[in-house]
Amino acid sequence: MKRRTGQDPSVTRNWKPATQAVRGGTARSEFGETSEALFLTSGYAYDCAGDAAARFAGEQAGMTYSRLQNPTVEMLEQRIALLEGAEACRTMATGMAAMTAALLCQVSQGDHIVQGRAAFGSCRWLTDSLLPRFGVTTTTIDARDPQQFEDAIRPNTKIFFFETPANPTMDVVDLEAVCAIARKHGIVTVVDNAFATPALQRPMEFGADVVAYSATKMMDGQGRVLAGAVCGTEDFITNTLLPFTRNTGPTLSAFNAWVVLKGLETLDLRIRRQSENALKVGSFLEGRVPRVNFPALPSHPQHALFMRQMAAAGPIFSFELDGGRAQAHALLDGLELIDISNNIGDSRSLMTHPSSTTHSGLAEEKRLEMGVVEGMIRINVGLEDADDLIADLDQALRGAGL
Ligand SMILES: Cc1ncc(COP(=O)(O)O)c(C=O)c1O
Repeated sequence: MKRRTGQDPSVTRNWKPATQAVRGGTARSEFGETSEALFLTSGYAYDCAGDAAARFAGEQAGMTYSRLQNPTVEMLEQRIALLEGAEACRTMATGMAAMTAALLCQVSQGDHIVQGRAAFGSCRWLTDSLLPRFGVTTTTIDARDPQQFEDAIRPNTKIFFFETPANPTMDVVDLEAVCAIARKHGIVTVVDNAFATPALQRPMEFGADVVAYSATKMMDGQGRVLAGAVCGTEDFITNTLLPFTRNTGPTLSAFNAWVVLKGLETLDLRIRRQSENALKVGSFLEGRVPRVNFPALPSHPQHALFMRQMAAAGPIFSFELDGGRAQAHALLDGLELIDISNNIGDSRSLMTHPSSTTHSGLAEEKRLEMGVVEGMIRINVGLEDADDLIADLDQALRGAGL
């Protein structure tokens, strides 16, 4: 029986993360396949009209339509929930669909959000431009200082929204302190954990309520598909998130879910090796450029907090040159091995200039408020040999006059 059926949650919950990453959520079909099956179907057939009616009424278990349920997608959702230590997870078509759903599903006109200043550009657009059109206001603070969260609270504050570490400044938020403030005031914390993934940081262990992901990043890990995920309590997912997503439809495709399932099998190995490489590259850059924003380096002011929350360095950090955009572009143009690309979490090393790419949609004053200066470059350190990456950076830096 075990070969053919789904898993017993009372057993899988006790598996260690490495086991969950490979096997968590697997539900085999009657063929007993070893690799997860890919169910490319938009609908499901019923044995009789009464079954269809019972399923729509929620009186019979089973699937009705792939905007709402799909066996491959459900395997991924269970696997991510198990890795996160969350009661439940729902996947989305992209990371931005996940962030949008996680916020919009729980706010109404008149509500207020407190958000960290450093964030992915589209997240800032969501809170600064979209939500105000529907009467939801936002106060932006320096999330490195927990007191600023407390000071920004109003009677109508509903959510604290932040990334840690943040894209691309690498600001670190004290999860325990900020989540405790939120709990005290009945505020929901929504944490974008895309940089760390559950392999390195599990915000719920520090008291976070909702954890959202761009699974496009480390979870896929090989630059193939877009995907997102939202984790929370069973009550939040069923009663708050699902009514929103079932009817608005930011559903993840079964194919993309299958690719991310494969990605998760190697997440821990990749992220630890990429972290080692990132530390080598970060240490090299520290001696060559004016500023390196990488909290894994002992010289970083938030190093102790970062190491308390994170199991390893992670593959992403940023650094700054004094010669502004011209010097940053010259450095990128001189690269021979590392690609100029704005993606992150890939097993290939990639570098981008945030102010002219990922954060170019924001006004300059907003970029500066976030700390995204013109001389900043973000790097995703991949699985290549660190010596080759350092050699490439060395020759490109020399070409850029450094
Ligand atoms: C921190 C962070 N959050 C969210 C997103 C959005 O993810 P996606 O591109 O999958 O929509 C990104 C993507 O670049 C990101 O870096």
